[in-house]
Amino acid sequence: MANIYVTREIPEGGLKMLRDKFGKFDMNSEDRVLTREELLKNVRGRDAVLCLLTDKIDDGVLAAAGPQCKIFSNYAVGFNNIDTAAAGKRGVMITNTPGVLTDSTADMAVTLLFACARRVVEADSFTRAGKFKGWGPMLFLGQDITGRTLGIIGAGRIGSDVATKMAKGFRMKILYVDKFKNEQLEKETGAKQVDMATLLKESDFVSVHVNLTPETTHLISDKEFGMMKPTCVLINTSRGPVVDEKALVNALKAKKIFSAGLDVFEAEPTLTQGLADLPNVIIPPHIASATFWTRTRMAKIAARNLIDALEGRMPEFCVNKDLLKK
Ligand code: DGY
Repeated sequence: MANIYVTREIPEGGLKMLRDKFGKFDMNSEDRVLTREELLKNVRGRDAVLCLLTDKIDDGVLAAAGPQCKIFSNYAVGFNNIDTAAAGKRGVMITNTPGVLTDSTADMAVTLLFACARRVVEADSFTRAGKFKGWGPMLFLGQDITGRTLGIIGAGRIGSDVATKMAKGFRMKILYVDKFKNEQLEKETGAKQVDMATLLKESDFVSVHVNLTPETTHLISDKEFGMMKPTCVLINTSRGPVVDEKALVNALKAKKIFSAGLDVFEAEPTLTQGLADLPNVIIPPHIASATFWTRTRMAKIAARNLIDALEGRMPEFCVNKDLLKK
């Protein structure tokens, strides 16, 4: 019987698939991230590990798992937590769960865009604090959305979905930055591919959707904030380190931009000092994919990837196929 470890409880749909296939398996049933020591201890001797984006899977962890280990199935679309090259060298497949979280993540970017533009969280707190003394002509003025310009940084699955939703639903003009030309997006929404400086200078809203790589780390920093409009709203639902959080705090304090909506943070779960004190930032705790349907689908895909690997098939969503030692 295969020796499987799950680093934290995921929705039952995925766990049931593992149970039906392999019977019993071990799982961290405490609702918390394992410490490094616990991770090293628990992966030892496993044939397969189902891990989360909060588990740092480096060569040390891969070595601890041992040469019989076939797969680390990541319960996330992002896999910047895993050293895929090191895994490839050891012949360990790394998989992710793409596609099923496109809508929910794009929906969260849109939610943050609206909430920031119309200052919903700030205004709600005001009412709850008993400060609402009646309608006021200057009360919580925000930014218009319909017909304005949305800059998409990274026009892949999620970025394109945000662009399409906002172009079709709110007649927004779309600018985008990407290594590749996205002809379908251009055809569907009239989006225009531009360089970064143009996007930053012309957009009323900037939404970030790139993978985290050394090239995208601090992609948005002091210089970029300096190019944005003072009325601009920045949204980040990708990975925290893409935005230089210290520079963001300074930009928000100095009103270089209007506001920001962040679902992800540079050193999660720690926030840069001062961020949570600012009224012009909305900071949900990395929940963009957190819908019942999406998380269940992610669990099933992660389980499917793991089962395929253990049964000798190449999982559909193997991200280090090209790096795998033969
Ligand atoms: C991911 O999957 O990469 C998201 O950040 C969490 O679902």
